[in-house]
Amino acid sequence: MHKKIAVLDGDGIGPEIITEAIKVLHAIEKKYNHSFSFEQALIGSVAIDSTGDPLPEKTIEICKSSDAILFGAIGDPKYDNEPNSKVRPEQGLLALRKTLDLYCNIRPVTIFDRLIDSSPLKRDRIKGVDLVIYRELTSGIYFGQKKEATEKGIASDLCAYSKEEILRVAHFAFKAAAKRKNKLTLVDKANVLASSRLWRRVVTELHKKEYKDVELDFLYVDNAAMQIVLNPAQFDIILTGNLFGDIISDEASVIGGSIGLLPSASVGSRYALFEPIHGSFPQGKGKCIANPIATILSAAMMLDHFDMAQEANAIRHAVEKTINCNIGTPDIAPNQNSTTAEVGSYISNIILE
Ligand code: IPM
Ligand code: MN
Repeated sequence: MHKKIAVLDGDGIGPEIITEAIKVLHAIEKKYNHSFSFEQALIGSVAIDSTGDPLPEKTIEICKSSDAILFGAIGDPKYDNEPNSKVRPEQGLLALRKTLDLYCNIRPVTIFDRLIDSSPLKRDRIKGVDLVIYRELTSGIYFGQKKEATEKGIASDLCAYSKEEILRVAHFAFKAAAKRKNKLTLVDKANVLASSRLWRRVVTELHKKEYKDVELDFLYVDNAAMQIVLNPAQFDIILTGNLFGDIISDEASVIGGSIGLLPSASVGSRYALFEPIHGSFPQGKGKCIANPIATILSAAMMLDHFDMAQEANAIRHAVEKTINCNIGTPDIAPNQNSTTAEVGSYISNIILE
């Protein structure tokens, strides 16, 4: 099968981790007789440097004419302490999500047995964790009306949701639950926020109408933040809005021992983008210490999206085997200290075995 993949390295460690994901995809091509073509496009700080725009028109064109998008990371410290900067790298990713209507972000959290003791959480709390966060990605407070600080020192961000925006991501989450442990937890702040009360109403009605067999429960986000570290094994599918999903997915990444392990898929009705959940790790740039596994597992999610389940599982199996052999970057194998490229090569070689 032939597939065209748009490749957006982005900033920081982005190019290094994407190189390894492509290496692994080349192994898949070879082993399973597929052909992938890769087209690079600019986004983020590097795009600002060369075009002035964090999401150049050309990048959108390349993404729209591809079968999927593989994305590295975004963000550069030179913007972090510049609150007055008119243009920021992150705007590139947000605009891309919005332009391509990638409203459903899927973030699976699983544990590798070999790494269970590298988690800061106790072994008996995290055994058996297998949850997926469904995060709404193109609305809510991220995209509501913004008022930058006035001279009086007032700024605001509006958190607005429509019924349709909630319904479409909720369908995705209920369907996923029905194929898994049949449990969905809606995380919100309905005791305080009107937008959260709408989420509860819409999700409850949808549940009654179409997904009665799925067990549905609700958690306020503050309680959810606590439950994710107290008893993460209780969760199957977590459905939540944009900002809460951003926060609890970083929190959930702690369970598995490193944020460098968690992949994600952002899908809409037409396009799909695959990216690690972590950021651009600027301190690690060029040091060959970035963990490429989150990006490699994002490539596996991309193969699932292409209906290449066997190929996707071959990647997952190779990743697991690599971890079991104690091959890993310093975040997961401090005694081993493999480089980013060594990890990618090891995984590729297992696929080719
Ligand atoms: C993520 C990131 C992004 C977000 C940033 C880079 C804009 O943290 O994908 O989780 O906040 O959504
Ligand atoms: Mn985030």
